[in-house]
Amino acid sequence: MADKEARMMHGPKSTARTDILTLLQEEHDEMEVLIKTVLDSADADDVTDLRRRVLAEIRAALVPQAKAEEDVLYARLAQDEQTRPRTLEGTQEHLVFLRLLGELHAMTLQGEVWMAKFKVFAENVEHHLREEEQALFPQARTVLTTLEGRELVGAYQAAREGHARDAAAA
Ligand SMILES: [Fe+2]
Repeated sequence: MADKEARMMHGPKSTARTDILTLLQEEHDEMEVLIKTVLDSADADDVTDLRRRVLAEIRAALVPQAKAEEDVLYARLAQDEQTRPRTLEGTQEHLVFLRLLGELHAMTLQGEVWMAKFKVFAENVEHHLREEEQALFPQARTVLTTLEGRELVGAYQAAREGHARDAAAA
């Protein structure tokens, strides 16, 4: 937990020396905070407004992150037979939670059915992030060289910005 707080404080902004796996871990931590905000929103005064606003933040971050991760990190790790199976699985998990996210976005009422769907979405995302952090990323650290891990940061950020622009234009 202390590690997590330290990462949150320093944030993902200092990317000059970071590697792709550390950057993604920081993005995971930020995503978990956003998801928890919605899960804990039942007693908020402006509950509908809060859920709408935080869901928009989740979408704006998660869609480009998942797609850029596939384009850059998964594409590289799919070339190694040790990590390939988990990249295929991860891609399918992205499809499931991005579909749920789209359904949440399309629902106009943020009542109990919306919240039930959000909980399923949250469970799917949590499961995916745990698998990446506990299984894929440790394997990836043995596949990628230190230099490669750093070099993938720029490609990932460029892909993420591209997908964010596409999403904003759609
Ligand atoms: Fe992912």
